Amino acid sequence: MCGIVGYVGNDKAINILLKGLSALEYRGYDSAGVSIKVNNGINTVKTKGRIMDLASLIIEEQIDLSGNIGIGHTRWATHGIPSTLNAHPHYTDSVSVVHNGIIENYRELEEFLKKKNIYKKTDTDTEIIALLIDMFLKKFKPKEAFEKAVAKLEGSFSIAAIFKETDTIMLAKKDSPLVIGIGRHATYTASDISALIDHTNKFIFLEDGDIAFIDKENIKILDHSRKSIKREIKTIDWSMESAKKGGYKHFMIKEIAEEAEAVRNTIQSRIDANGNIYLNDEINMDESFLKNIDGITIVACGTSYYAGFSAKTVLEKFTEVPVNVEIASEFRYSEPIFSKHNLFIVISQSGETADTKESLKFAKSKRIKTISIVNVKESAIARMADTCIYTLAGPEISVASTKAFVSQLSVLYMLAFYIGKLKGKKIDKELSMLLKLPGIMEKTFKMTNDRIKTVAEKYHPYKNFLYIGRGLMYPIALEGALKLKEISYIHAEGYPAGEMKHGPIALIDENTPSVIISPDKEPFYSKTLSNAEEIKARSGKIIMLSDKNSDMVDDFIELEEIEYDFSPFIYVIPLQLLAYYIALYLGYDIDQPRNLAKSVTVE
Ligand code: G6P
Repeated sequence: MCGIVGYVGNDKAINILLKGLSALEYRGYDSAGVSIKVNNGINTVKTKGRIMDLASLIIEEQIDLSGNIGIGHTRWATHGIPSTLNAHPHYTDSVSVVHNGIIENYRELEEFLKKKNIYKKTDTDTEIIALLIDMFLKKFKPKEAFEKAVAKLEGSFSIAAIFKETDTIMLAKKDSPLVIGIGRHATYTASDISALIDHTNKFIFLEDGDIAFIDKENIKILDHSRKSIKREIKTIDWSMESAKKGGYKHFMIKEIAEEAEAVRNTIQSRIDANGNIYLNDEINMDESFLKNIDGITIVACGTSYYAGFSAKTVLEKFTEVPVNVEIASEFRYSEPIFSKHNLFIVISQSGETADTKESLKFAKSKRIKTISIVNVKESAIARMADTCIYTLAGPEISVASTKAFVSQLSVLYMLAFYIGKLKGKKIDKELSMLLKLPGIMEKTFKMTNDRIKTVAEKYHPYKNFLYIGRGLMYPIALEGALKLKEISYIHAEGYPAGEMKHGPIALIDENTPSVIISPDKEPFYSKTLSNAEEIKARSGKIIMLSDKNSDMVDDFIELEEIEYDFSPFIYVIPLQLLAYYIALYLGYDIDQPRNLAKSVTVE
């Protein structure tokens, strides 16, 4: 989704902005632009396409961008097609603006401006902000004009604006992230700390309703009631190194290779081999409440949703209460009936997904106890829930989520065991299994990586795939199919294997391969083999992932034998690899697949 970077200091702003925007490329975008304050005004360059295209255009056009104050943006189209005209910044002679989010009342505001003979030229909602500020600038000083314009906006936004008349960058935040980075004689802003971690590790996270005025030495923040407020400065220890590719061709393959480490980091300080789980402080809820919960609701989107779905069985087994897993965009507009002592869990890698955030708000409004499972520190969802258990996966850059998934799963498993233990269940075996998992995951990556490359070479020309599994492998089939869709643009459907005969079997022929995911666990293994028979009888090709081979399959991917409950952690790895290598053979932009965004901050 859209990204913002801003800089005010003594250095040339353009270099910092381009570098920051490159660091935000992973979020997904279709156009980019910058505005820099120069002697006699503000100069803007923008284009449809990539940051590389923007950098070439800057050289070609030879516009003066030598100033020390500037803003930059990567746009992911919501209002209006991806084009140079619709790219940000949007500007007038006096002000230039970048914006993430959606201005919901932009039509009303457009009418309001028309009555004053002010017309917009682009299809965007953002231009309205620039025009409003410009209108107020005719009567008011820049800070007042900015405040007055922001007061008219409804919807979600993070905004950065620069002005001809002042060296201050002005910021506003509501329901869309915006941080301030503190440097030496320099102040930065960005929608995401990864744009700034090369320059500083000290950040202020603006709160909803805040307006901020930043110049190279000063930061002034006003809260929603426009009272001056001091926000805490936080030190974030993410290194730039961990946000780089480290010798891998793509972030996605680097992140798959890091999965074992991501799980290790997430569990190692929280459990030990003596049956102890140290989650009390993080969960921070009465033991009696947790012992007496009578239902769990999990809400999330995309891969995070599948993590919740994959953990459902183990959660139910150990907590002995029903677990409902819901898609956030549906849940937020539904009329859910919460059980009396419900525990509400939201899962989000980014911690900024709009639908998940709104679902969380809804649960909080019903006074349900909420836990978030989030990867990005201090993100909105992490801060909004009653309590947050962080996945310690490190920055995940590739749009297709991989290491976040297994880390989320490990948190959900720890939570299941934690509540199970409170309820008197023995969990020693499970915890020692969890501790062994990273080793088994490392081995799985090594065992399957080359084999999957060969299989991907054979299968990459096919246009449709069916992924089937039973029990714990059904959600993994869904996640495997999602990965393939996301990065190789091949139609893939995940299905419960037993349901195949009620529809998907009609698709089977020699051109539709099936990926069967089935550890050797009865009754699932033999029942899934019956599905394999049905596929073979219709000339369908079969790729099978299992710890037990069958002569019926065309391509067998061997996996370690593992305690069934823990199989999701390792069976997902070859499926992620399969999607990766198929996309690689097809020559696609793996880390930034078309139309997708890393964090979906709009509805
Ligand atoms: C987008 C991403 C997915 C991700 C989903 C949920 O669709 O492309 O990879 O799973 O959002 O994101 P979250 O940050 O809430 O886990």
